[in-house]
Amino acid sequence: MTENHTLTVRDNRTGEEYELPITDGTVRAGDFAKIGKTDDEPGLAVYDPGFTNTASTRSAVTYIDGDKGILEYRGYPIEQLAEKSTYLEVAYLLIHGELPTREQHDQWVHEITFHTFVHENLKSQLQGFRYDAHPMGMLLSSVGALSTFYPEARNISDPQIRHDQVVRLIAKMPTLGAWSFRHAQGKPYVYPDNDLTYTENFLSMLFKMSEQKYNPDPRLAKALEVLFILHADHEQNCSTNAVRSVGSSQVDPYSAVSAGIAALYGPLHGGANEAVLKMLKRIKVPENIPAFIEGVKKGDEKLMGFGHRVYKNFDPRATIIKKAVDDVFEVTGVNPLLEIAQELERIALEDEYFVSRKLYPNVDFYSGLIYEALQFPPEMFTVLFAIPRTSGWLAQWIELVDDKEQKIARPKQIYTGDRRLDFTSAEQRWS
Ligand SMILES: CC(C)(COP(=O)(O)OP(=O)(O)OC[C@H]1O[C@@H](n2cnc3c(N)ncnc32)[C@H](O)[C@@H]1OP(=O)(O)O)[C@@H](O)C(=O)NCCC(=O)NCCS
Repeated sequence: MTENHTLTVRDNRTGEEYELPITDGTVRAGDFAKIGKTDDEPGLAVYDPGFTNTASTRSAVTYIDGDKGILEYRGYPIEQLAEKSTYLEVAYLLIHGELPTREQHDQWVHEITFHTFVHENLKSQLQGFRYDAHPMGMLLSSVGALSTFYPEARNISDPQIRHDQVVRLIAKMPTLGAWSFRHAQGKPYVYPDNDLTYTENFLSMLFKMSEQKYNPDPRLAKALEVLFILHADHEQNCSTNAVRSVGSSQVDPYSAVSAGIAALYGPLHGGANEAVLKMLKRIKVPENIPAFIEGVKKGDEKLMGFGHRVYKNFDPRATIIKKAVDDVFEVTGVNPLLEIAQELERIALEDEYFVSRKLYPNVDFYSGLIYEALQFPPEMFTVLFAIPRTSGWLAQWIELVDDKEQKIARPKQIYTGDRRLDFTSAEQRWS
């Protein structure tokens, strides 16, 4: 232990002093447990609802520096990956920790491509949903159901079995996501086309009708590729924490990933881009922007798609997504809401209220516009998030399984309820 890398804590209840080691800017919560511990009393614990200042793991997957607007997967800047890589290459990087050789890449793409089909019984399960079922509900239950088709998946200590499930999950997510989308429209499910790339095949399963072969516009496939790369991982966010927490019980990865999908389903996590769209539609015309901004500054409401818990100068993903917006609109025609979004951004970036609070557009400010231009209903937005995030969830899950320090997730509580009440039977209480 380096001499200065300690924290001296004086417990004023007893006058005792403790010296706790500081490692990587953290103090072990377990060291606090030694403070004030007696035979009758547990030691000191830390109280941190939402884990806002608690590290749950050591991780080498994704690095974020919110102040500097840095996002890196396995050390590679997101800007370079979005510009020069493909989603499947990035998925390989996240899962394996390094970039693939040509042989590794080709083998990986081949494996993923040939696992895109799902068992016909799973199709029947999806068909059993109500006509208006939310696609995220369908996705989360069908991913959970995959565990029953691959019971060997519960053997999580076997690296080959683990690998097979990772491939299956990354491969089948677009199929299940696209079928959930088609279901709501009463359209037949489209089988995967193994001649197409990952995002081309997804577009085909979403939009193919009676044509023999669906030919996706390469600009749309590329834009989707970029969006998938941007959403592939974001370190210990709510859904990743859900995957890790559920995975810590050593359950199979399908069940753990379905927990991640459930977490993403919630409006605080995956729902912001839908809120941005609603806001833009409500503003309707640029003339209404000044009044809207005044309302935000008075605290009446938030400017959705602005601000981030971690990024305090800019969200690097937002910069990249703006470029994708142009590419998509070149194909689909410009969404009239874009003009409002651009004007809102221009005004907000000059306004002292937003500047002083370090509020900048986040990834969701523009992604909703792209998804709408691609004719996705808002319920699909989180599905479009879950598909690429699967590789990140799995990279984090593998790290968890291999981490000898990890235990089953089991936080402490501060009990605030009654104690030692006398129980009287229902008969007595109600007589
Ligand atoms: C993302 C978000 C939850 C981060 O919140 P946070 O880090 O806890 O930031 P705070 O809530 O502490 O905000 C700091 C200040 O900025 C203001 N603020 C934050 N986001 C704002 C927004 N989008 N519009 C207007 N004001 C905002 C807060 O009111 C607060 O002002 P105050 O200091 O006068 O009280 C928040 O910025 C937000 O709700 N943004 C809109 C929703 C969104 O786009 N979410 C997607 C995230 S990817």
